[in-house]
Amino acid sequence: MIRIEQLHKSFDGVAVLKGISLEIGKGEILALIGRSGYGKSVLLKHVAGLMKPNRGRVVLDGHDMNLLRGKELRKLRNRLGFLFQSGALFDSMNIFDNVAFPLKEKTKLREKEIREKVLYELEQVGLIGSENKYPSQISGGMVRRASIARALVEEPEIMLIDEPTTGLDPVTGQTILSLIDSCHQRLRFTGIIVTHEVPRIFEIVDKVAMLQDGVILFQGTPKEIMQCEEPAVKTFIAGSMEWLRDIDGGPEAVVRTATRKPHTM
Ligand SMILES: Nc1ncnc2c1ncn2[C@@H]1O[C@H](COP(=O)(O)OP(=O)(O)OP(=O)(O)O)[C@@H](O)[C@H]1O
Ligand SMILES: [Mg+2]
Repeated sequence: MIRIEQLHKSFDGVAVLKGISLEIGKGEILALIGRSGYGKSVLLKHVAGLMKPNRGRVVLDGHDMNLLRGKELRKLRNRLGFLFQSGALFDSMNIFDNVAFPLKEKTKLREKEIREKVLYELEQVGLIGSENKYPSQISGGMVRRASIARALVEEPEIMLIDEPTTGLDPVTGQTILSLIDSCHQRLRFTGIIVTHEVPRIFEIVDKVAMLQDGVILFQGTPKEIMQCEEPAVKTFIAGSMEWLRDIDGGPEAVVRTATRKPHTM
């Protein structure tokens, strides 16, 4: 469903992506991990068609993004859902109108159908009762949940999610990850999640790719990355799990839970 082939991207002569290749099958979710500033968001923006590569290509469901223009590109973009780093909502619209926005803009659905769909999505993310509030009147976690509802209301086939839990406390972060997992089980979208939530993210993804110095240093299953002997991968995973030392049973206990997939494909 998503094929990235030999993608290269430089900014002002500085190479950020140096030949990235990845494949994600229909219905699969890939976690894209790696240190800050290594180009995870840049890679996601190429998949979204928001950035053009210097070399290489992104192929979505057989369509080469480089070759599409105008109406064709818009048609393909309509099949994508985004959840970007800040989870931005329109400040001047209440939660209901924020979630209804893509349906009003892009579909010919009637008012009543839009209302039903929006309320259904708001119920899925636990925001019924807050639909008349404005983004400034709700918490960061609620803004993130509303953004998820807005991204999912169009039932996208492909979801691109950039750091859905940044800035949230660990418990709220876990709620957001569980929510993404349950939405994925319901809608079966193909997805990429950029995240620093290692190893928690391993519980809800099928594949992991680690980006470093412009290349994919590792790709495989969550279980495989936990057993990977490549020093840079090992160091990154160990560093990500440092904070788990104080938890009952230590990192091993968390990893055991994290790599036990809760659902089968
Ligand atoms: N539009 C742009 N113009 C110039 N440079 C850019 C642009 N977008 C990103 N970069 C550069 O590309 C590099 C990778 O940025 P990117 O935002 O993809 O990192 P990241 O891996 O997502 O980091 P983080 O985990 O902090 O979000 C950075 O050095 C950044 O400054
Ligand atoms: Mg980023």
